[in-house]
Amino acid sequence: MSSSGPNLNMPTHDPSHNGDSNHAAGGWPDNVGIVAMDIYFPAQFVEQSELETHDGVSAGKYTVGLGQTRMGFCSDREDINSLCLTVVNRLLEKTGTDPTRIGRLEVGTETIIDKSKSVKSVLMQLFAESGNLDLEGVDSTNACYGGTAALFNSINWVESSAWDGRLALAVCGDIAVYAAGPARPSGGAGAVAMLIGPNAPLVLDRGVRSSHMEHVYDFYKPDMSSEYPVVDAPLSIRSYLSSLDACYNKYRAKAANRGHENITLDSFDAMVFHTPYCKLVQKSLARVCLNDYVNLDKEHKSKLAHLEKFSEVCLEKSYTDRDVEKAFMAHSLQRFEAKTKPSLLVATNVGNMYTPSVYGGLISYLVSGCSRSLAGQHVAVFSYGSGSASSLFSIRVTSEEGHLEPLLKCLSDVQSRLSDRRKMAPEEFVATLGGREKAVHAAPYTPQGETETMFPGTWFLASIDEMHRRKYDRTSTTLSKANGH
Ligand code: ACO
Repeated sequence: MSSSGPNLNMPTHDPSHNGDSNHAAGGWPDNVGIVAMDIYFPAQFVEQSELETHDGVSAGKYTVGLGQTRMGFCSDREDINSLCLTVVNRLLEKTGTDPTRIGRLEVGTETIIDKSKSVKSVLMQLFAESGNLDLEGVDSTNACYGGTAALFNSINWVESSAWDGRLALAVCGDIAVYAAGPARPSGGAGAVAMLIGPNAPLVLDRGVRSSHMEHVYDFYKPDMSSEYPVVDAPLSIRSYLSSLDACYNKYRAKAANRGHENITLDSFDAMVFHTPYCKLVQKSLARVCLNDYVNLDKEHKSKLAHLEKFSEVCLEKSYTDRDVEKAFMAHSLQRFEAKTKPSLLVATNVGNMYTPSVYGGLISYLVSGCSRSLAGQHVAVFSYGSGSASSLFSIRVTSEEGHLEPLLKCLSDVQSRLSDRRKMAPEEFVATLGGREKAVHAAPYTPQGETETMFPGTWFLASIDEMHRRKYDRTSTTLSKANGH
């Protein structure tokens, strides 16, 4: 069918139209990725060793068995909106980004407090004063994967014909709480915000990211009146590991199609994972090594004599095989220490933050002060959300001198903020969760939690009125004497 009017399906991505120097000559913008990022976690935690005693489980179950040291948690002063308000406000302030420079704002979360109104719409309060209401994007939800959906949507927008030359902002946050029982120590809370644009210091590789999505009832939240999920824990672990196998092998195939044959773990300087608990990540790194072993030909397998009895191992049948797990945990230990352990700083100290977990892992790796220079490093990232949705993608750290420093400067307070948190007794943690249970969907409601002990510049819930409208306030951005922050 012909038309005399303009062809609206024609690509309008013509660099000469906006004169933007971020475009490659005649093509897509170059080096699209993470320009800056920041993380927020609550200013209080419970010690996992004390929780073991409190819960009456054997010493080491949470700390060694799960690999968790501390768990961050929120009082009734914090909800998903306040967490995201805090992290976005901090990132804009720290980077001195004018709100009018943002053209797309995406939020990923599974902490749903409203079945219609998006968290993104609440964040628009931070843009009102600047007059910037031209901001695409809303929320994405699929368990712990929503943050990756927000990141990919942001990257895609910058690389698309819809891009108007501004930055995107991908935000993810969650409050992860479980009913009393074995899953409770695998909770956590926090938020991450990422500025996305061209000429970034952390560039997402093109054409190789790989996904695996399936219908699985492993972890879900069918009870709208509760913050707690329904969990089939063995199925969730199996689904996580089988998604990793699938994503890794699809990534390898896509890389091979682009001329990068034989990608293995050694092709990456680091590998960062969604972290439900740290021990699972160590097992996952071992799983990647198992995949590399399975992919070897006979001759190369024979050189690894200590693994000989696994030469015929079948991936699908090995998820619960303790011998395989043990052998490959030992085989991969050094690589785990070098490539993945540094990424567990936030995860072991805050817990599973759900959507921000994997980005907390990336931040941990960047601030870990690993002995080698970060310049030019290649980092693999595995994101998993129950239900299920998963992706494996890779990031190239810039080699350009001075280009990474502003991003690192923004994260330079992560370690000190972790140590500045207040330790709470297990009894206070349990009472706080009990308070949250009673307050879910209460209206009108006035939160009782302290605000004096929050980090400076933290947004908090001030009140909920009889029409369920939530009002927020912010703690002073200057140092507080009460908490010594
Ligand atoms: N010292 C050292 N290790 C110990 C001790 C001890 N005293 N006691 C137990 N352990 C070990 C166990 O041997 C076990 O090790 P293994 O994993 O190598 O087998 C580990 O601690 C866990 O103990 P279990 O008894 O097997 O499991 P538990 O009933 O405590 O539950 C679980 C752990 C399943 C992780 C639980 O916390 C949970 O359900 N979490 C939520 C689900 C989840 O995170 N799934 C992951 C993907 S989905 C997502 O991201 C939400």
